[in-house]
Amino acid sequence: MNLEPYYFSIAISLHVLAAVIWVGGMFFAYMALRPVAANLLEPAVRLSLWSRTLSKFFIWVWLAVIIIPLTGYWMIFSAFNGFAGVAWYVHVMQALGIVMILIFLHVFFAPFLRLRRAINEENYQEGGKKLAQIRKLVGLNLLIGLLTIITAIGLEHMPF
Ligand code: HEM
Repeated sequence: MNLEPYYFSIAISLHVLAAVIWVGGMFFAYMALRPVAANLLEPAVRLSLWSRTLSKFFIWVWLAVIIIPLTGYWMIFSAFNGFAGVAWYVHVMQALGIVMILIFLHVFFAPFLRLRRAINEENYQEGGKKLAQIRKLVGLNLLIGLLTIITAIGLEHMPF
């Protein structure tokens, strides 16, 4: 029995689930929670809300940034016999995916960890600056994530 199609089906499901959780989470944070928290909450509470919310969300993003390239490259090398066998939109998806992962790693190790430190030291001015950096980078990654999904699905069906 050839198990390859089953493995492919599992790999692409995990790949897309990870992308949905990551990009959907950024959409909720940026488009829904951010404007309300900015209007409603005092800086100390707002910064703690973000620090704790992001701590939980980033666990899932870490899983996504491991699962997406693992499953993506597995599909390329086992099902498509390497890069020569993949369509042009997969190259674009890969490039955008790598940029998204690098932006996330930067957000996590620079402004996010500094935000947590600033909150521990009750330095809310510094915390506010770090949160502003996170907001811009997450906004950028959200945009790239949406473009990646358009690339992966919309462009796949273009007649070229
Ligand atoms: C290292 C980065 C990535 C690699 C190597 C990669 C590779 C792949 C491959 C080989 C496929 C299967 C294509 C096909 O069946 O024709 C795929 C599908 C898909 N990928 Fe990626 N991908 C990456 C990153 C991403 C990211 C960051 C997202 C979204 C934010 C994404 C979203 C999708 C979606 C939605 C599909 C399903 C497309 C479909 O079959 O209709 N990928 N990817």
